Amino acid sequence: MSGGLRISDFCFVVAALAALGGMGLGIVMGISQDFTLAPAHAHLNLLGWVTMAIYGLYHRGAGRTGGFAGWTQVGSGALGAGLMAGGLGDYLSSGSDRAMPLVVAGSLLALTGMVLFLGLVLADTLRRRAGSFEMTARSG
Ligand code: HEM
Repeated sequence: MSGGLRISDFCFVVAALAALGGMGLGIVMGISQDFTLAPAHAHLNLLGWVTMAIYGLYHRGAGRTGGFAGWTQVGSGALGAGLMAGGLGDYLSSGSDRAMPLVVAGSLLALTGMVLFLGLVLADTLRRRAGSFEMTARSG
């Protein structure tokens, strides 16, 4: 897919946006000395910035640019991070549990993203091993 959005580009854009939001929230918390939203800040930074950036580095390193499995994996991770941080933020600031379904959905999507990540890593590893076995068989 030349010219289109690569999976790693998507991951880095989402990661940077999450970092900007997370850092901004951290600064606001520091200025106001109100740390109510600290868990939302932590999840936006860790699921959004750190996890998505690591996914992006993996996809770029593995040479993955597209494909249904890859997009589903990073899409789940990105949506999970957003729902989790947003839902937690609403839950903590409103005192109501109306956003709990978002938090639950977000956490399950984040988990799904990580399960799919493990699947991709294992599939890539097996493919590489099969490839090097074929090379050995051909040259031997
Ligand atoms: C501009 C950058 C940042 C600022 C100003 C900032 C600010 C803060 C503040 C004020 C707190 C609350 C401290 C307290 O409760 O006493 C906090 C907690 C936390 N931050 Fe940040 N932070 C920043 C970046 C990050 C990043 C990049 C990460 C992770 C990658 C991170 C992870 C956490 C975690 C795990 C907590 C603890 C949350 C909790 O206690 O529930 N922060 N941060």
